[in-house]
Amino acid sequence: MPNLAERMGHAKSSTIMMIADKAKQLKAEGRDIISFSVGVPNFLPAEHVYQAARESLNKDSGQYLPGRGEDVLINAYLMRLEENGFHDYKKANIATGIGAKHLLFTLLYALLNEGDELLFAAPFWTTYRDISDLIGAKAVMMNCPAEQNYKLTPEQLEAAITPKSKVLLFNNPSNPTGMVYSEAEVKALGDMLERHDLWIISDDIYNRMVFDGIGFHHLLKTNPALRDRIIMLDSISKSYGMPGWRVGMMAGPEAIATAVVTLNSNSITNIPAVVGAAAAAAIAGPQDFSDIMCVEFAKKRNEVMWVMSQIEQVICPRPQGAFYAFPDISAIYGRSHNGVVITNDVVFAEQLLESKGVAVVPGGAFGEPRAIRISYACKPADLTEGLKRFKAFFDEIV
Ligand SMILES: Cc1ncc(COP(=O)(O)O)c(C=O)c1O
Repeated sequence: MPNLAERMGHAKSSTIMMIADKAKQLKAEGRDIISFSVGVPNFLPAEHVYQAARESLNKDSGQYLPGRGEDVLINAYLMRLEENGFHDYKKANIATGIGAKHLLFTLLYALLNEGDELLFAAPFWTTYRDISDLIGAKAVMMNCPAEQNYKLTPEQLEAAITPKSKVLLFNNPSNPTGMVYSEAEVKALGDMLERHDLWIISDDIYNRMVFDGIGFHHLLKTNPALRDRIIMLDSISKSYGMPGWRVGMMAGPEAIATAVVTLNSNSITNIPAVVGAAAAAAIAGPQDFSDIMCVEFAKKRNEVMWVMSQIEQVICPRPQGAFYAFPDISAIYGRSHNGVVITNDVVFAEQLLESKGVAVVPGGAFGEPRAIRISYACKPADLTEGLKRFKAFFDEIV
């Protein structure tokens, strides 16, 4: 049998999905499992979204559609951009894809030659490193531990930039840490970026999930001079509870949007009409549920932080956005639980799942093996029970 392409040597499937699958399998075997593993919001889109999908289905002609996305979707996104203070974007600046993940793959494919450097803060969303490896770019991960609240500083970024640096990926609020950059922190990074000729992909997919009244601050607002180099990335997955519908949007310089459309025409061709119509309805429709969702998530965040504060061995910077917490649990490495020595994050996650039926993701997948990720977007009762078991696990450490 002939070989696979060499690049597949770099390809691995998502650790997050592997843990989620293992949890599902144990559940199917009858085990009482609580999953804190996958980043799926626990709400469904509103009725008008389903209605738009049904109407689209009724008149669907089954034809190929524009690779940029249909006007109804592009116009809805443009309207929200304008409303959020991102002015003067036009259709030519926009492209859509099969989720933000697909758009990110497409953007990095379009921007990076082999060996070019892609910079991002660690902890990072696992896919950043995986796509970088797949396309033969060099991932430069800037280490931002719990001691610095998992946030990137301008000094760190400046020190990491070399003549081969081409793209910075900036994720705020962050998956996996839930950290949100303040306006001053964003501006400090922006001021530094004004002095370096890099593309900046701003992964904003959690921008509606910010708590404590601190607001979402964007590089484009603090540093408008960066406009010609910034690509904004958004998605319906988290904001509208539609992860499986698979729609992502980008806004940026015309040449970049055109490159994405060209690649779309050679890969996906188009977003299906029904999906595009549902996404457009979600984006154009009432947005007030987003405040309710934030109040819910903030409550859950408080519950997580309360339990973390009861566990002496854990350091957990306080998340202010998304729906993740990222406790550093490394204080128990080398100690035992029920006779099993917890040597690292993977053993911790396995032992927690085995002994307590709670699934979390080992932090190594996100570039920080001292921590684990808790996704708290589950049902409130599951959260309470899962946290109780999590705490009990630490009580049993010897
Ligand atoms: C930081 C970040 N960016 C992008 C994505 C991709 O989102 P989508 O579902 O639109 O592909 C995710 C999904 O978990 C994410 O956490």
